[in-house]
Amino acid sequence: MKVFVLTGAGVSAESGLGTFRDKDGVWTKYDLNEVATPQGFARNPALVRDFYNARRANLAEARPNAAHEALARLEADLAKRGGELFLCTQNVDDLHEKAGCRRVIHMHGELAVTRCHHCEATWPDKGPLKPDTVCAACARDGGARPHVVWFGEIPLFMDQIEDALSAADLFVSIGTSGSVYPAAGFVAEARAMGIATCEINLEPSANAYVFDEKVYGPATEVVPAWVERLLARL
Ligand code: OAD
Repeated sequence: MKVFVLTGAGVSAESGLGTFRDKDGVWTKYDLNEVATPQGFARNPALVRDFYNARRANLAEARPNAAHEALARLEADLAKRGGELFLCTQNVDDLHEKAGCRRVIHMHGELAVTRCHHCEATWPDKGPLKPDTVCAACARDGGARPHVVWFGEIPLFMDQIEDALSAADLFVSIGTSGSVYPAAGFVAEARAMGIATCEINLEPSANAYVFDEKVYGPATEVVPAWVERLLARL
């Protein structure tokens, strides 16, 4: 069985990383136009670096939770049975990897990676983004930005994602509000291809009506139980 799982901020909420659109979410406290667009970075790079430096500091403290661990178990168990998990995340944290997932597709980039705005070179970097960092590839300074896909930029790995989606037997969306495209459109694509679909979230998402199966509750409770049910069925 090939399972395509799409995760969002809700899977990391119980690890202490905030979601975006819930009450007290990141986008209720910050203007996304100022901190998550290329235009915002051009206007005020210091503000943008400060915002992502605070998020890097939060991430350093965060540990994977039972939902991340259950998905790592699902990846390993499916592989043992000749199946496959394609784990596509909108999250820029590394908690799936910390839980032991071997292949994670970060369609919105990675917080702990720095990208040079001048030449697009990337490098792993958990420390603060600084204005005077010199890029090892192009030798220019002033270009250090997070390797995060901002509004108006194209998500990463889309060809790979489309191939995996069309090959899947089951599409599962976990902890996402279904507000940001193209990820929010995957369920409709899956359904149009006749693939079974399941939503796991704290509450019905914007796309809830499109899913065949729905499971609601905190990710740390409902994801491990769902993984057990799925593996028992195979
Ligand atoms: P949102 O904040 O839009 O949605 C989070 C979803 O998680 C909501 O539907 C919540 O109900 C649900 N949720 C909250 N706590 C939960 C819990 N403990 N268990 C299960 N579900 C829970 O976050 P995303 O959908 O991930 O993009 O947002 C998509 C994109 O918008 C992000 O990747 C980010 C943001 O702008 C970039 O930064 C590029």
